[in-house]
Amino acid sequence: MSETEVAFVTGASSGIGRATAKAFAEAGYSTAIIDLNEAGGNETEQIIKQAGGEAFFVKCNTADDDSVRNAVEETVKRYGRLDAAFNAAGIDGVTGTMTGDTAVEDWRRVIDVNLNGVWHCMRHQIQQMLKNGGGAIVNCSSTAGLRGAAYFGAYCAAKHGVVGMTKAAGIEYARQGVRINAVCPGMIETPMTSSEDMKEIIEQMAEASPIGRRGQPEEIAGAVLYLCSEGASFVHGQAIAVDAALTSR
Ligand SMILES: NC(=O)c1ccc[n+]([C@@H]2O[C@H](COP(=O)([O-])OP(=O)(O)OC[C@H]3O[C@@H](n4cnc5c(N)ncnc54)[C@H](O)[C@@H]3O)[C@@H](O)[C@H]2O)c1
Repeated sequence: MSETEVAFVTGASSGIGRATAKAFAEAGYSTAIIDLNEAGGNETEQIIKQAGGEAFFVKCNTADDDSVRNAVEETVKRYGRLDAAFNAAGIDGVTGTMTGDTAVEDWRRVIDVNLNGVWHCMRHQIQQMLKNGGGAIVNCSSTAGLRGAAYFGAYCAAKHGVVGMTKAAGIEYARQGVRINAVCPGMIETPMTSSEDMKEIIEQMAEASPIGRRGQPEEIAGAVLYLCSEGASFVHGQAIAVDAALTSR
C-alpha cells in the first residue's frame, strides 16, 4: 500500500467482524470499528492498538441510516478517506420457527439489520469511495444466502437479498472503481453459533460437514482481505462461499 488505506468494519465488536478488523489492521489499514455493542467495540480497538495497529470505535446501529451516515462521516473526519469496507453486523433472530409462523416483528427486525443495514452501509460507503477514487466493499451473506435454510426464513431471505444487492451494485459500479462482492460463510465458531441450547445441533452439523468442523473467524477474514486487495481487481459482483465445500454437494 502506498499511503495508509482505511477500512470500515461493521459487527467488529465480536466474531467474524472483530477478526476481520484485526486482519485489516495487521495489513496496515487504519480501521474503523463499527458496532452497536460499545464494550466489545472498545475491546476490539484496544486489542488492535496493543498489537501496534491503528483503530477507533464508532458506536452505530446499522439498521438506522442516519447512524450509518454518521459512522462513515466520523471515519472520514478521522482518517480522510475510505478504501475498504466489510459489512458483517448481523443477527440470527428468532430461529427454529416455521416461516409461516414467524412473528411480524421478528421478521422485520432480521430484515432491518441483515438486509437494510447492509444497504445503508453500502450506500454511504459507495458515495465516499467515489469521492476518493474507488474502493472495495464486501458484504457478509451466508450459505443461507445461497440455498434454503429451514426454520431460518427471515435470515435466509435477508442473506439472499444481500447476494442480490451485491450483484446489482457490482454491475453498476464496475466502471467507477468500486468493487462490490459478498462472502457466504459456512458455520463459523463465534458467539452467534455458540449458545448452550444450540450446542448439540451445532456439533452435529459441524461433524456432518465435508471438513468435519466449524470454521474460525480468521478463515473468513482471509477471504475478505483478498477481496479488498489488488489481487482481486477483476472480481466484481460475486458471492463467494467460504464454507469448506458445504454448498458444493
Ligand atoms: N457464525 C456463523 O456461522 C455465520 C455463518 C454465516 C454468516 N454469518 C454472518 O456473519 C456476520 C457476523 O456474525 P458472527 O458470527 O461474527 O456473529 P456475532 O454475534 O459474533 O457478531 C455480530 C456483531 O454484529 C453486531 N450487531 C448486531 N446488530 C447490529 C446493529 N444493528 N448495528 C451494529 N452492529 C450490530 C453485534 O453487536 C455483534 O458485535 C453476520 O452477518 C452473520 O449473519 C455468520
